[in-house]
Amino acid sequence: MANHEEQFKKLIAHAKEYGFIFPSSEIYDGLAAVYDYGQYGVELKNNIRQYWWKSMVQMHENIVGIDSAIFMHPTIWKASGHVDAFNDPMIDNKDSKKRYRADVLIEDYCAKIEDKINKEIEKAEKRFGDSFDREQFVTTNPRVLEYQRKITDTLHRMNAGLENNLADVKALIEELEIACPISGSRNWTDIRQFNLMFSTQIGSLSEEANTIYLRPETAQGIFVNFLNVQKTSRMKVPFGIAQTGKAFRNEIVARQFVFRMREFEQMEMQFFVRPGTEIEWFEYWKKVRMEWHQSLGIPAEKFRFHDHEKLSHYANAATDIQFEFLFGFKELEGIHSRTDFDLKQHQEFSGKKMQYFDPELNESYIPYVVETSIGLDRTCLAMLSYAYNEEVLDDGSTRVVMKLPPILAPYKIAILPLVKKDGMPEKAREIMDTLKQDFMCQYDEKDAIGRRYRRQDAIGTPFCITVDTQTLEDNTVTIRYRDSMQQDRIAISEIANVVRKNFVSLHNI
Ligand code: GAP
Repeated sequence: MANHEEQFKKLIAHAKEYGFIFPSSEIYDGLAAVYDYGQYGVELKNNIRQYWWKSMVQMHENIVGIDSAIFMHPTIWKASGHVDAFNDPMIDNKDSKKRYRADVLIEDYCAKIEDKINKEIEKAEKRFGDSFDREQFVTTNPRVLEYQRKITDTLHRMNAGLENNLADVKALIEELEIACPISGSRNWTDIRQFNLMFSTQIGSLSEEANTIYLRPETAQGIFVNFLNVQKTSRMKVPFGIAQTGKAFRNEIVARQFVFRMREFEQMEMQFFVRPGTEIEWFEYWKKVRMEWHQSLGIPAEKFRFHDHEKLSHYANAATDIQFEFLFGFKELEGIHSRTDFDLKQHQEFSGKKMQYFDPELNESYIPYVVETSIGLDRTCLAMLSYAYNEEVLDDGSTRVVMKLPPILAPYKIAILPLVKKDGMPEKAREIMDTLKQDFMCQYDEKDAIGRRYRRQDAIGTPFCITVDTQTLEDNTVTIRYRDSMQQDRIAISEIANVVRKNFVSLHNI
């Protein structure tokens, strides 16, 4: 774990040093859990958003996109349940005065037990070598079983307490002897509910002022536009509406870089289906979304499903797609079968019918909804964590290389004249002009070629094109592949094809 923590610190430092992600308002000492994307970070983020949008909207004839406003009528949040129930259980340590989420304290406790399980597995793996059967070990080893039982019991009790009585959750924290990581003491306050929505005033005159909220999810903008979109696009159930955009939550625990932010971006899709078919569609979207994650070339074992034991009042099925971040497996995307809860609530609170007339059944109903909801910033973090590699090369030197999937890399091609003379810069610029309409290209003529390669490795540019004397004679260049560092000689006219061949085909997902 210490190694992972070290690795995580290095990643955060690299993200800042190389213009991916900066702390917000840094010259004023920053603002907790708020970050700015730099020149490379914004390209990565745009590429992820576009890859998601293309696979969800462009590749599905029955899904369309919208862009709804961040400010919405305040009654929407009453109807959705956010005013009354979008709370986190908060607990303070009386000695350090630090505030925590009670459920996170307990989950961290369980994560430590999980580390112990992993250590047992590692030890056994070493002991048994090739004959080690992991599945058999974790299902029969008494110590592992005891640890697993402890985790299941603890989470079960926590969920029951969160639902019924917060005093039970405090009692559990005391019984588990969970101490404040800062003060080391177990001197806790009672647990209180803390609403995560930010509010502000709309209207220029105070007597007109009205409290409104910064949206904590983009989904409600889709629900309230459901009939507008259905009627104007003549969509038939089943169909989906997608959108990406900012969401805001006043998170109690602000940590883990862009994993948990107070201002972040979501990519959500609500899929409207006939009542009674929602579980089928839930299973469908589980599969499709997992394929999307794996389509980018990240090994399958880095992802897993985590089915919700405790369902929200509006859901009849829910799962998370978790990614193995440097601090363990954590939620990256949520897939929820939300029943007809939201549309029904909006029908009740607005007094407007939210029904759909199904021409095949010749009847009207409120559709059920399956939603896929993924954090864009978390996906950036997942990509950066996976891509960050420190490699020792054959000559003993080291390089930091961001092995980002080419389709997501901020710059696709670096164009490098071998030397800054003899017509090479002009030729390099000419090549760049033919490519820059289709690809993000970067021109670099400063320093020795080796150092320029390293700079491109550090920002994840998958292809470096070097222009040398031979280029001037026969219109060929060397193409250097970031991951293998292999170099090939190809015709200038072939560059675009070679680059495109390395992009993921959306037909495969
Ligand atoms: N509409 C459903 C919804 O908002 P959620 O599980 O609360 O569900 C969906 O959020 C996704 O949004 C999460 O899986 C996560 O990737 C991202 N997310 C949620 N809170 C976040 C935060 N504070 N910072 C960054 N990403 C967040």
